[in-house]
Amino acid sequence: MRGEVRFLLDDAPRRLTQFDPTMTVLDYLRQVEHLTGTKEGCNEGDCGACTVVVAKPQNGRLRYQAVNACIQFLGTLDGCQLITVEHLAKAGKLHAVQQAMVDNHGSQCGFCTPGFVMSLFAMTRDFDEAPDDATIDDVLAGNLCRCTGYAPIARAAQAAYDLAPRDDAFTTGETETLEKLTALRDEETVEVGDGGKRRFLAPASLDDLAALYERHPEATLSAGSTDVGLRVTKQMKRPETLIYTGRVTELARLEETAEAIEIGAGVTYADALAILAQYYPDMGEVIRRIGSVQIRNTGTIGGNIANGSPIGDSPPLLIAAGATLHLRKGQARRSLPLEDFFLEYGKQDRQPGELVERISLPLPPEDTFFRAYKVSKRFDQDITAVLGAFSLTIEDGVVTSARLAYGGMAATPKRAALAEAALTGQPWSEATVKRAMAVLEADFQPLTDWRASGGYRMKAAQNLLYRCFIETTDPAVDTRLAGAALAGVGRGATG
Ligand SMILES: Cc1cc2nc3c(=O)[nH]c(=O)nc-3n(C[C@H](O)[C@H](O)[C@H](O)COP(=O)(O)OP(=O)(O)OC[C@H]3O[C@@H](n4cnc5c(N)ncnc54)[C@H](O)[C@@H]3O)c2cc1C
Ligand code: FES
Ligand code: FES
Repeated sequence: MRGEVRFLLDDAPRRLTQFDPTMTVLDYLRQVEHLTGTKEGCNEGDCGACTVVVAKPQNGRLRYQAVNACIQFLGTLDGCQLITVEHLAKAGKLHAVQQAMVDNHGSQCGFCTPGFVMSLFAMTRDFDEAPDDATIDDVLAGNLCRCTGYAPIARAAQAAYDLAPRDDAFTTGETETLEKLTALRDEETVEVGDGGKRRFLAPASLDDLAALYERHPEATLSAGSTDVGLRVTKQMKRPETLIYTGRVTELARLEETAEAIEIGAGVTYADALAILAQYYPDMGEVIRRIGSVQIRNTGTIGGNIANGSPIGDSPPLLIAAGATLHLRKGQARRSLPLEDFFLEYGKQDRQPGELVERISLPLPPEDTFFRAYKVSKRFDQDITAVLGAFSLTIEDGVVTSARLAYGGMAATPKRAALAEAALTGQPWSEATVKRAMAVLEADFQPLTDWRASGGYRMKAAQNLLYRCFIETTDPAVDTRLAGAALAGVGRGATG
C-alpha cells in the first residue's frame, strides 16, 4: 500500500498524503495551487473552460491528452504530468499556440481562452502537421466560446504550426520528464484518505482491484469519471470510498484475436476508436461523436455499459454486433450476452462487488453489414435522442439474421425483437423493411422528454431502418452529413 499520490505539476513534483477523494483537479488547481488560469464554466464536462493537459508515459514516449479538470478527480493524476495554461509560456515568451491565438485575434473575453489554448496545445502534440478543417473542428468541439466565434480560433490552430509549436520546453525536456514519471510509478495500491473516513483507492492490478471491490462492495468505482464526476459536481454526492480503475493495465487492454476484439472495461473511447472504425466504420463514427475529445480521452466503454443508461451510445452498437460481457467478482468470472445485462431502468445484472472486466466484440461475419446512426439535437458533443444500430446478414437477397438494437427507445438499450422477426427469412426489399418499420411500434413505446417526443423518437427509429435499407441497396444516394467522412480517421493510442 502506498499512502500518497505523486505526480508532476509541470516539472515540479507533488506528493499528496491527504485530500478529499472527490476533490477535482480543477478545485485543486484553483484552491490549493492558486493557479486560476484554468476556469470553471459548466463544471460538467461540456464547455471546456477547464481544459488541462495530462501527459503519461506510453511506448517510451509521453502521450499528451486534453481532459476536463472539472470532472477529473485529483488522485487520477498519480504517475502523470499535469500541464495548465500557466505552464506554456517559458522565459517570458508565449508558446506558439498562445502566440497564434494573439496573432489571429482568437480571444475576446478570454474566459474560454485558456481551455482553447490547452486543446490546441494537445493537438500540436497529437498531429505532426496542421490537421484539416474537419479535424480542427473535432479538436475544438469540446470548447465553447460565446464571444470570439470559432473562425479566428480555427485559423490560430493552423497558424500555430507556422510557429513550430513543438520547438518548446516540453520537447527538449521530454526524456527527463519521462524518467521522472517512470520513477513515480509502481505496482502498489494507492490509498489516501481525507483525515476522516473518506478515502481514494487506486489498485494497479486486476487481481488487486477485484479483491478490493469484493471487500468493499459499497465503494464507488470510477474509471474516466465522466459520469461519476457529475454525480459529485452536480448531485453533490460524496462517496466514502472511491476506487479508481485507471491504473489497472489489464483493464486498458485492447486485443484483436482471430474472432473478436477484446476490449478491457477501462479502454477509453480515444483508444478504441481506430480499431472499431476499422472493422465497424459506423461504430467508429458514433464513437467519434461521443462527447468531445476531452470526454473521449478519459471516458471508457466499460463505464458506458456499467452506468446502464438507456441513452449510452456504445451499448446498442455492441448489442447489435453480438458482443459478450465479462464480469468478475473476486476470483469468480462469468459472461453473458451484453443485452442480458440491462434488466430494467437503473438495474443491471451486476452483483455488489462485481466489476465489468471486458467486452468481446466479434469481428463482422461475411455477408453481414453493420449500420449505426445517432440522432441528437447537435451533431457533435450532444447526448443521443435515438440511436439505431443494425447488423444484418443477407444471403442470396434474403435476410438470414437480423439484430436491431436501439438506444433512447426504452428504459434500457434494447433489441427490437418483433421487427427482427419481421425481417428474418424475408427478402431484403422495401416491402419487408416497411413491414418491419410498422412492427417497431409494437416493440417500443418511447418516452417524451426534453430531448425528443415519443412520436419523434418512433418516427426517427423507423426512418433509420429505412435509411439503412437505402444505403445498402442504393449506395449512390447521399445519406450522410459531411462530418461523417471522419469515420475511418480516428486518433488512436498512437495519435
Ligand atoms: C460532456 C459529456 C458528454 C457526454 N457525451 C456522451 C455521449 O455522447 N454518449 C454517451 O454515451 N455518453 C456520453 N457521456 C457520458 C459518459 O461520458 C459515458 O457514459 C462514459 O462512457 C462513462 O465512462 P467513464 O469511464 O467516464 O465512467 P465513470 O464515470 O468512471 O463510471 C460510470 C459508471 O460505471 C461504473 N464503472 C466504471 N467502471 C466500471 C467497471 N469496470 N465495472 C463496474 N462498474 C464500473 C461507475 O461506478 C459508474 O457507475 C457524456 C458525458 C459528459 C460529461
Ligand atoms: S468547467 Fe465546463 S467543461 Fe469543465
Ligand atoms: S472569448 Fe469570450 S467566451 Fe470565448
